[in-house]
Amino acid sequence: MMTQSAAIHVPVMPREVLRLLQLEQGLTVFDGTLGAAGHSSQILPRILPGGLLIGTDRDPMMLGFARARLNHPQAMLYRASYTDAVNILSESGVRGVDRVLLDLGLSSDQLADRNRGFGFDAGGPLDMRFCPDEGTPAAELLLRSQEQIAAIFTSWGEEPAADRIAAEIVRLRNSGAPVQTAADLVSCVESITGRNRTPVTRVFQALRIAANEELQRVSAMLETVLPQILNPHAIAAVISFHSLEDRIVKNAFRSNPGWKVLTNTPVTAQPAEIRINPRSRPAKLRIARWEPQQ
Ligand SMILES: C[S@@+](CC[C@H](N)C(=O)[O-])C[C@H]1O[C@@H](n2cnc3c(N)ncnc32)[C@H](O)[C@@H]1O
Repeated sequence: MMTQSAAIHVPVMPREVLRLLQLEQGLTVFDGTLGAAGHSSQILPRILPGGLLIGTDRDPMMLGFARARLNHPQAMLYRASYTDAVNILSESGVRGVDRVLLDLGLSSDQLADRNRGFGFDAGGPLDMRFCPDEGTPAAELLLRSQEQIAAIFTSWGEEPAADRIAAEIVRLRNSGAPVQTAADLVSCVESITGRNRTPVTRVFQALRIAANEELQRVSAMLETVLPQILNPHAIAAVISFHSLEDRIVKNAFRSNPGWKVLTNTPVTAQPAEIRINPRSRPAKLRIARWEPQQ
């Protein structure tokens, strides 16, 4: 069923995800963030025979990895945003789903692609879009007004030096040396905040979130889309990687009485996993069951 793919991404908390999703034969599972199918390639055998896996990823590169791993008639994979789930399901004739997984953010494969601009050492243009023909490339976001740039760093990165960094970006632009690559951005931020990776990380995170409208999509998915596609008693698992994302997930699960939260405090990776896969350190897994009110 599975063939080898060249993906390097290691799935986060796979044992916890598989256990808490309470997988069984015959279920319909929606993996909104397929990535390289690290989770889904372990989910599919647990729902067969009779089960169906529907997966989406916005990034054609990641969908290629997923297809290489999940070549099975009971796996239907789409290049789409998870927020398109209502249309995807109705076009595929699927009435509802029993399990949902959202493993938010970006994969190690995207980070490692030096042409995408996600990593600090990326050599190509500062793009950062998951989907190459949708959204605004990060370099274009940096052509906006100083106030708008600062607002991105504040809203999506909670960066205290947002105003000063934005002012420096505009100064460089006006002096004919605009920030165009990841390396340009790192040196610009470090010229303001010193050689400290925390502000650089926050600024990169903020631009990526803005370029992909990530947080708006998470909110829309949890608040509007899932209630339309979930079967009663369905279970949703969401893994987030920073506090802004986790707050949205926590509040969405709390604000709709249809959700019964199964994790009062989020599940985090065990020390042994963090040692092998440091990317799992900030991950927070929240689970809720959908019990719509009659
Ligand atoms: C952390 S990775 C998922 C890794 C995957 N669980 C695995 O184990 O291989 C997140 C993936 O979500 C995708 N993604 C982000 N936002 C998305 C959206 N709105 N719709 C669909 N895919 C999205 C990214 O392109 C990326 O491939």
